[in-house]
Amino acid sequence: MSVETLIRQIPKAELHIHIEGSLEPELMLEIAERNGVKLRYRSVDELRRAYNFSDLQSFLDVYYAGASVLRKERDFYDMTAAYLRRAAADNVRHAEIFFDPQTHTGRGIAFETVINGITAALRDGPISTRLILCFLRHLSAESAMETLEQALPFKDRLVAVGLDSSEVGNPPSKFAAVFTRARSEGLRAVAHAGEEGPPSYIREALDILGVSRIDHGVRCVEDSQLVGELAARRIPLTVCPLSNVKLRVFRSIKDHNLRTLLRRGIVATINSDDPAYFGGYVDLTESEVRQLARNSFEASFLSAEEKATYIQPA
Ligand code: ADE
Ligand code: ZN
Repeated sequence: MSVETLIRQIPKAELHIHIEGSLEPELMLEIAERNGVKLRYRSVDELRRAYNFSDLQSFLDVYYAGASVLRKERDFYDMTAAYLRRAAADNVRHAEIFFDPQTHTGRGIAFETVINGITAALRDGPISTRLILCFLRHLSAESAMETLEQALPFKDRLVAVGLDSSEVGNPPSKFAAVFTRARSEGLRAVAHAGEEGPPSYIREALDILGVSRIDHGVRCVEDSQLVGELAARRIPLTVCPLSNVKLRVFRSIKDHNLRTLLRRGIVATINSDDPAYFGGYVDLTESEVRQLARNSFEASFLSAEEKATYIQPA
């Protein structure tokens, strides 16, 4: 069996997927049309041509524009259902999915509309899932706290809170209070850190936000003590190699440090981040693929019993 076939066929968990980043151009245009939303882009080709990014911010500008078509519960349902169908076809057995409520509440869409649409699709979907609410770090700490207040009546639908959007200049420490509150309510925590930002942001996410996983975290290699601690504590990194190349964190897939992370004993996992925007393939050996698939279940928020049902002996 080729490694490409193995990658596709091996049962795996996906732990770093922004549901708004799964919205493919075809569905985006269809939803824009039925909602009467005018987009800057008029065709699938024009959209795909816009997917040429120089850094994280240049991507986020297009990503937030794309999310503006989502207005009704049905839109969130259709987007989520389409992702779950594609994930199941790739033999993703379990997905822990991010959503960005402030991207929508900031446009006057009710929090309930967003969460009801997404969770209805998760309930009807073909695979096991958990939902992670992400705060947008370019917005204020007060806005994050308001968002948590809106979410608490629905907390039984959430497994964790997370932190995403523009990293540099928005360190994890800015969100200490809201993460403390979320964890006191029984939610787990994750955070994007060390994607474009420095290793000190990873350190803050661990020590101040109390995260169980780091999203991206690739810049940890600049601090060897931090690498040792991540490995010793088995704090997983949800790495997204294709995203890192598209957003120019690494110049090419050959320059990516995934292999270094694995060799240094870090529980790295491979994830798609925003698959509609980044697509593509990664070059791995068979044993790396098997290790990464095992890691993906180990790093999940499933219970020990649930993990055991997915993890094949080495
Ligand atoms: N939101 C969606 N994708 C993201 C990424 N790669 N980094 C930060 N925020 C994001
Ligand atoms: Zn991400």
